[in-house]
Amino acid sequence: MNLIDIHSHFLPGIDDGAEDSDVSIEMLSDSMSQGVEVIVATPHYYGKKRAVDDFIKLREESFLDLSQRALQKNTKLPKILLGAEVALTRGISVRENLDMLCIQDSNLLLLELPFEKWDAWVYNEVERVISNWQITVILAHPERYVRMPWDIKKLKPFFDMGVALQINAETVLEDKGWTKRFLKSGCPCVLGSDAHNMHKRKSQMGAAAKRLTELYGETLLEQINEVYDILGLTY
Ligand SMILES: [Fe+2]
Repeated sequence: MNLIDIHSHFLPGIDDGAEDSDVSIEMLSDSMSQGVEVIVATPHYYGKKRAVDDFIKLREESFLDLSQRALQKNTKLPKILLGAEVALTRGISVRENLDMLCIQDSNLLLLELPFEKWDAWVYNEVERVISNWQITVILAHPERYVRMPWDIKKLKPFFDMGVALQINAETVLEDKGWTKRFLKSGCPCVLGSDAHNMHKRKSQMGAAAKRLTELYGETLLEQINEVYDILGLTY
């Protein structure tokens, strides 16, 4: 099965992910050995830290660094798309050029919600991101914002806004029931590694795909890939 990893911090030297291009290449080779054919670079974007244009420039430099190193080492890479993991902060919906943070050639934005308790502004801001920019929001790892099964009601307003959900591979492997709940939510669901390195936060896409197939049958991964077609991701 061809896997698409929509959430990964493999770009070198831009966030808390890969520290240099050698680690990046190791991460990408490891992903390919697990069956990943397409991978989206999603370095953290924090609006308080820099403007969108500056982030794009940094990301280009980081990608160039990686590409040159891969060429030097004659290493085959998976298909790479450029994106970002955008932290939801107050006012992000009116940030200049926010749409440039969407995943390459799409209107899909990977959005990370705050980890502290949510007030109304969180829901309002997500709603404005969607309506101001005609963006489809993919919520990064929704399982990380909820602790108990009944907490899923916190996420319900986002489900009603038509978001897609990105489940982390490690969540599938932990098997605490979240995958099943999200698959039943009615929202399009996709899978991401959220890999940061080759030790503690390594990609587990292959193992997660295997577990999903055991739990939900052969067709689930095909359905996940179809979600990308529906969402308009070209790769
Ligand atoms: Fe992440």
